[in-house]
Amino acid sequence: MGDSVHLQQVLLNLVLNALDAIGESPTDTRKVAVLARRLGGSNVEVSVSDSGVGIAPDKLAQLFEPFFTTKPNGMGIGLSISRTIIEAHGGRIWAENNAGGGATFRFTLPVAAREGSA
Ligand SMILES: Nc1ncnc2c1ncn2[C@@H]1O[C@H](COP(=O)(O)OP(=O)(O)OP(=O)(O)O)[C@@H](O)[C@H]1O
Ligand SMILES: [Mg+2]
Repeated sequence: MGDSVHLQQVLLNLVLNALDAIGESPTDTRKVAVLARRLGGSNVEVSVSDSGVGIAPDKLAQLFEPFFTTKPNGMGIGLSISRTIIEAHGGRIWAENNAGGGATFRFTLPVAAREGSA
């Protein structure tokens, strides 16, 4: 159960950021992967991974702050809004660097109990 427009916005923000991150890479090395999986318990996890520039380790904590941007034309609000939306749905969102380069953004969401059960 969730606000589909808001959740769509989160996914769009993450994919657009991933596309920005791979923008300077040679065409044949550009990769973006979107995965969804069921976690143990009653949560789902969605991840958006890219083969881009990655995140400076000292900036990992700041990315989700409003108006933090490293882009000349960035507003720095995409991730801040995304965090607000995910937390409003009872989930978490965070970023990590990939071992092989690039970054992965993940969010979790609780799965609603089926109508009539629980
Ligand atoms: N996939 C990524 N790889 C590397 N850095 C990223 C990635 N996604 C986000 N970032 C960093 O986090 C910052 C904040 O992202 P956020 O989406 O909040 O704002 P933005 O993309 O700069 O602007 P906008 O408001 O248009 O989305 C980016 O400027 C960039 O430095
Ligand atoms: Mg953005």
